[in-house]
Amino acid sequence: MAYNNITSNLENNILTIYIDRPEKLNALNKETLDELSDLLIKTKEDNEAMVLVITGSGNKSFVAGADISEFAHYNHDEGKALSAEGHDKVFSFIENYPKPVIAAINGFALGGGLELAMACHIRLASLNAKMGLPEVSLGVIPGYGGTQRLTQLVGKGKAMEMIMTTNMLTAEEGLSFGLVNQICEQDVLLETTYKLAGRILKNSPHAISCAIKAVNALYKDGEDGLKREIEEFGNCFGTPEFIEGTSAFMEKRKADFKSVCS
Ligand code: COA
Repeated sequence: MAYNNITSNLENNILTIYIDRPEKLNALNKETLDELSDLLIKTKEDNEAMVLVITGSGNKSFVAGADISEFAHYNHDEGKALSAEGHDKVFSFIENYPKPVIAAINGFALGGGLELAMACHIRLASLNAKMGLPEVSLGVIPGYGGTQRLTQLVGKGKAMEMIMTTNMLTAEEGLSFGLVNQICEQDVLLETTYKLAGRILKNSPHAISCAIKAVNALYKDGEDGLKREIEEFGNCFGTPEFIEGTSAFMEKRKADFKSVCS
């Protein structure tokens, strides 16, 4: 599949995905979501890509939301299908992705853009970032997980206020709300993100994928998070990465997980 709306770059085991429609502030149309979904599926099996970074092309916007021009004429059923398909193919898919996915928010992250960032496991924002959920100003509500993930990240009162007022947060406010993990100047955003990715890359990829499942279990209906943790803890034992990690500790050397990853 040739991509018209995203580009990517693989370096040092980090795949950087750029949402690349800068003339539309990287708004997510259906084609962009399909391309992102396709790349995410392919990357799951790519042993070279160990950490994913999602960012926006240009210096103004991460993603300014779902493409309003595409859904403005939709009826009830089409609206519902748009939301369900997005959850399934992209947003929940990223949340449950077995490799770490980091959002590098380089400008506007509005509506579906903030929802994309919130589906990622970790968020960094540059000081020019503006983050909000403006959907109710359009007569609609967040439909790509925003009502749930914003509430998980910042709490019910702040989420209700952000959704009802459509106020945008600055990077500093996002940090103080717990919406983003780190903030920095825009010109060092990717460098800062790669430093964080580098720290993650030193650790066991299998254990990290087990940890993602265990943490996500807290937010899943019908899942007992502690039971999931017990399962995933057990799943780590006896694996080549567990043997390498524990042996390296006892032999007083640094673990080399790459040497045992298939
Ligand atoms: N969907 C479709 N097109 C969008 C878009 C979106 N979510 N966000 C921006 N664009 C387009 C604009 O229509 C414009 O296209 P044009 O040049 O062909 O007219 C282009 O991107 C640049 O946007 P513009 O509004 O001119 O930039 P600005 O700097 O004046 O304003 C924003 C920036 C982000 C404040 C403004 O674009 C905006 O409010 N966007 C919509 C945000 C939103 O409601 N998102 C949630 C959608 S559910």
